[in-house]
Amino acid sequence: MGNFLAGKVVAVTGAGRGIGRAVALGAAAEGAKVVVNDYGVSVEGASPSSEVAEAVVKEIEAAGGDAVAVADDVSTMAGGQRVVDVAVSSYGRLDGVVCVAGILRERMLFNMSEEEWDPVVATHLKGTFTVFRAAAAVMRRQRVGTLIGFTSGNHQGSVSQANYSAAKGGIISLVRSAALGLNKYGVSANAVAPVARTRMSANVPVELTEIGEPEDVAALVVYLLSDKAREQGITGQVYTIAGPKLAVWGQPRELRAAYASGGWTPEMIAEFLPGSVGVDPMPLLSRLEAMERAAARGDRPNA
Ligand SMILES: NC(=O)c1ccc[n+]([C@@H]2O[C@H](COP(=O)([O-])OP(=O)(O)OC[C@H]3O[C@@H](n4cnc5c(N)ncnc54)[C@H](O)[C@@H]3O)[C@@H](O)[C@H]2O)c1
Repeated sequence: MGNFLAGKVVAVTGAGRGIGRAVALGAAAEGAKVVVNDYGVSVEGASPSSEVAEAVVKEIEAAGGDAVAVADDVSTMAGGQRVVDVAVSSYGRLDGVVCVAGILRERMLFNMSEEEWDPVVATHLKGTFTVFRAAAAVMRRQRVGTLIGFTSGNHQGSVSQANYSAAKGGIISLVRSAALGLNKYGVSANAVAPVARTRMSANVPVELTEIGEPEDVAALVVYLLSDKAREQGITGQVYTIAGPKLAVWGQPRELRAAYASGGWTPEMIAEFLPGSVGVDPMPLLSRLEAMERAAARGDRPNA
């Protein structure tokens, strides 16, 4: 066992499988006491089971670590609150939360139903809010803490996962808001956009050329949870980890501006916009053909 997180208490959602499991095991191996949350559902979010979270607690205990299971649904306020309450009642404090829980319901936008939109946004975006909300109240009192959200490169846009993409974009804005609002209380907030082999990435509608294992992602999360990251002033950031690749995403900012002293008319905008303000080309638009070829090979829903 290492001691990168010695004495810390960390709660991980979606910790029963895939990346969340690797994060829970990795944090425990570095000395953290871990709340293992998982609702135990299918990729689409069906058939909950408490066994998934309990199995990871057993793994941590077998390796000499300390963990407790919470099988609640984090898309509810009560579920998010329980993850935090169990950390505090079991271990007396909460140093970090890592919101990894997620599901997929893939459909082209023109066919997407409310039942495909709502649960995906609720699990990812609201499921990050519910845990951040409850954890932030504890961390504000402690004057220390780390919030970590899980986003995706897919926040740039997606052909057949508009629900997932919108939720992942929302998580980045939520993380930045938490970084801004909680900075004065000693609480940091960052987002991770991973690429790793799991049951979920087997469903990604593009060919993943850069990909790693869940354990690669755990290394980044352990660092972000550590005092080193705090000392190094890491907050409000989005990092990708994909096997050997570690990357930082840019902050959104205005690229170019033009001013009209008397205000703009549609005619003036039509005349000046192309040559002055212009566009910022969308990288994914140039990859549409390749994405469509991959989608055809993987028998993706296209209707
Ligand atoms: N695997 C990748 O390459 C990749 C890429 C980009 C983003 N991500 C993100 O990383 C995270 C983990 O993905 P993964 O690939 O390990 O997926 P996974 O399906 O292996 O694990 C997700 C876990 O979340 C749990 N879960 C689902 N809904 C829940 C809820 N309401 N409450 C609590 N737990 C719930 C599931 O039971 C499951 O164990 C997700 O947020 C995903 O969007 C993954």
